[in-house]
Amino acid sequence: MSVKETIKKRRAYRSLVPVEISKELIKDLAEVAMITPSCGNKQPWRFVFVYDTEELKKLFTTLSDGNKWVEKASMIIGVFSAPENDCMIGERHYFLFDTGMATAFIILRATELGLVAHPIAGFKETLAKEILGIPKKMRLITLVVIGKHTETINPVLSESMKLGEKQRPPRKSVNEFIYINNVEEQFE
Ligand SMILES: Cc1cc2nc3c(=O)[nH]c(=O)nc-3n(C[C@H](O)[C@H](O)[C@H](O)COP(=O)(O)O)c2cc1C
Repeated sequence: MSVKETIKKRRAYRSLVPVEISKELIKDLAEVAMITPSCGNKQPWRFVFVYDTEELKKLFTTLSDGNKWVEKASMIIGVFSAPENDCMIGERHYFLFDTGMATAFIILRATELGLVAHPIAGFKETLAKEILGIPKKMRLITLVVIGKHTETINPVLSESMKLGEKQRPPRKSVNEFIYINNVEEQFE
């Protein structure tokens, strides 16, 4: 599969069935994070791979109401970092950018392997950090939900989420975010 094919295949699916989690899978995903570029090669990202059933149940208590579908996850990857872990050039703090890139690489590799890798922001950060043992001063940026996609729609989904299982939510057209030479000239 080409990179572009993998990018197109990736979807934030919410109807999941269990998938076996192995140390080999975790190593595979960790390796793509390892070779992600970062400012000054600071590698600010940290990941905690959670697949123990009891630990997962604890994490499920942190989910926001709209994220009940996450309870079908086979693994959750907690993505965390701190501003001091990366370049800070004036007001430009690169830890979120670089950690986001490493997370995107993990998501794409998981997609290539036939998995769903769905990042979420809808969780209680302080509680989730306590459960995972993440230091207070660090940000738990996202939880990446890992599972296998099923065509059978999860009944806990809202109507718009059910629609999202069938078709990708609409996107801006490229001329709303692409400029050529300077921001006065749009792409098309
Ligand atoms: C940072 C981030 C946070 C998100 N948080 C949630 C969330 O809490 N719950 C959820 O169901 N989806 C969440 N999503 C998934 C988006 O809703 C989804 O990516 C978007 O609707 C586009 O759909 P697509 O990824 O299938 O193209 C999140 C995505 C990102 C990147």
